[in-house]
Amino acid sequence: MKTFLAICLFILTGISAALYFGFDHTSSSMQVQYDDEQEGLQDEVVIKFSHVVAENTPKGRAARRFASLVRNRTNGEVQVEIYPNGTLYNDQNEYQALKDGHIQMIAPATSKLTDRFPRWQVLDLPYAFPTYQAVEEAYQGLIGETLLEDLPQDQVRGLTFWYNGYKQITSSEKPLIHPSDFERTHFRIMPSPVIAKQFEALGASTSELPFNKTYTNLEVDFINGQENTFSNIYSKKLYQEQDYLTISNHGYLGYVVLMNEDFWKNLTPDHQEVIEQALTETTDWIRRHSIEMNDAHLREMKRSESLEVHYLSNQQKEHWKDRFQRVYRETEPIIGKTLMEEVTRIQETY
Ligand code: LMR
Repeated sequence: MKTFLAICLFILTGISAALYFGFDHTSSSMQVQYDDEQEGLQDEVVIKFSHVVAENTPKGRAARRFASLVRNRTNGEVQVEIYPNGTLYNDQNEYQALKDGHIQMIAPATSKLTDRFPRWQVLDLPYAFPTYQAVEEAYQGLIGETLLEDLPQDQVRGLTFWYNGYKQITSSEKPLIHPSDFERTHFRIMPSPVIAKQFEALGASTSELPFNKTYTNLEVDFINGQENTFSNIYSKKLYQEQDYLTISNHGYLGYVVLMNEDFWKNLTPDHQEVIEQALTETTDWIRRHSIEMNDAHLREMKRSESLEVHYLSNQQKEHWKDRFQRVYRETEPIIGKTLMEEVTRIQETY
């Protein structure tokens, strides 16, 4: 009987203890193992960096380079996760996603900010920046500084400008050499009123389409032409749907690297410094290497027998420029006199 009572008492004590402490086996008797790797995981800062181009392009490679510099120099404390090819957000919604803090970094073509900030159209003026040095001066000088001032109103931080290359024209209809060749052609463009006006001045119509919808729209003949850099035309296989490539160098496609401002402010000063330094080095790298990447992609495309390549002569370029005068006139009130004067100064310098 005594034994029976002792067993009942033992079971009752056990049940009461379990009810009091709970049934979590880690909380009472078992010793919690200290795991500093797990603590590291909690401290890890993740930067989601979304972009729309392929990885073997100037922007794709620069993003990876930046990520690896940051990871190495923070001993893995800051991880930059890259989402290329518009897999996370496309060019139409990535800016909003950045503002909302769903992602922390993007590097859109500057043209994509013209909707929000009309004076960014200055960078899309046709034949605005005649040499690579001229582009650099635009980004580093008065134009770049002025444009970056627009961003804080969206709680967005403009970190730097990245380089891709000059835009060229492709078509499935005929070689596009003279302005009159553009009649009855329909082009995919980025969302920038200056670019629409540029094609209008040549006699073509346009549709604003996301970058990653360009191939399909060429394939189904909704559009019969588009403009882009060699690296984008090659890496997205756009040239395979086109028969003619005009090397016109009529505009420059570059990027602005952006970060969500609240996210930036919450980074430690040490992490901010590493990010800034890594960006300075990556910007220098993309400036030096974007030209050779684009040249290599042109060489690849020239191997395709189905693509006819035409280089515009200086005289032919002058005919295009005559048509573009009205684009300059119509854009001046939008971008303002100061920025237009700076474009003229750069043009006269180079
Ligand atoms: C485009 O839409 O054509 C470009 O902005 C793509 C890119 O980011 O280079």
